[in-house]
Amino acid sequence: MNTQWIGHPFFHMEEVDSTNEAAKRFANQGVESGALIVAEKQTAGKGRRGRSWSNTAGESLQMSLLLRPELTPKEASGLTLAAALAVSRAVESLPGSLRPQIKWPNDVIVGTKKICGILVELLLDSDQSSVIIGIGVNVNNSVFPGELREKATSLKLATGGQIDRESLMEKIWQEFEAIYEQYLLTKDMSGLKADYEQRLVNIGRQVCVSYGNESLEGVAEGIDVEGHLLLRAKDGGLRHIEAGEVSVRGIYGYV
Ligand code: BTN
Repeated sequence: MNTQWIGHPFFHMEEVDSTNEAAKRFANQGVESGALIVAEKQTAGKGRRGRSWSNTAGESLQMSLLLRPELTPKEASGLTLAAALAVSRAVESLPGSLRPQIKWPNDVIVGTKKICGILVELLLDSDQSSVIIGIGVNVNNSVFPGELREKATSLKLATGGQIDRESLMEKIWQEFEAIYEQYLLTKDMSGLKADYEQRLVNIGRQVCVSYGNESLEGVAEGIDVEGHLLLRAKDGGLRHIEAGEVSVRGIYGYV
């Protein structure tokens, strides 16, 4: 890959449980920051909030970056949004003039359907913490089973053409390198907030935030520098919502 430091070392696997789990194992073995794990197939791919993530071998991209940043867990929390911004910029550069948007915190969507999911995990260690950035992109998938059909699509379905997975992967990490450099200047989303908000599909829309059995409705007004969603609640108060275990949906559907 034509990148500065991401992908050194590079691990390509035919099959693995989850590239995030593989990245954790490498982290525990002392593998350095910048290591990238890419798999053709995951047998136990993980999504956010305990969900699973399925993929079709050879059609989608599954990869995880191991980072060992000098950041506290709080400072690292915005990286999940930064990763979505990198994917969004990379997808925009593809032929086909797509205008990808981001559904807070980190789903990348085209039209009203999801083309990419991101799972960021933190490994806390007494010596040095690691951050695993796991990205799954629906690239050349032609069909989605069952209920996924309603809310997922692929870049091939959206552009009408086959996409080169390797160049897309390279572009994503080139974008991430630039974004990460910017992120480290302030250790938050200050320098990236404007671009992120321009792509934020929820902005100005009525959304419903759910935490377990509780939910809160309001209008999304943007994000703060830590990447929290700014939600204008019905009582007029402005809430800062942390991504964590929260799910956000438009009141009329997925977006
Ligand atoms: C989500 O939208 O729920 C997040 C999905 C994240 C999927 C990717 S695929 C590569 C990496 N390995 C995993 O097990 N999950 C992430």
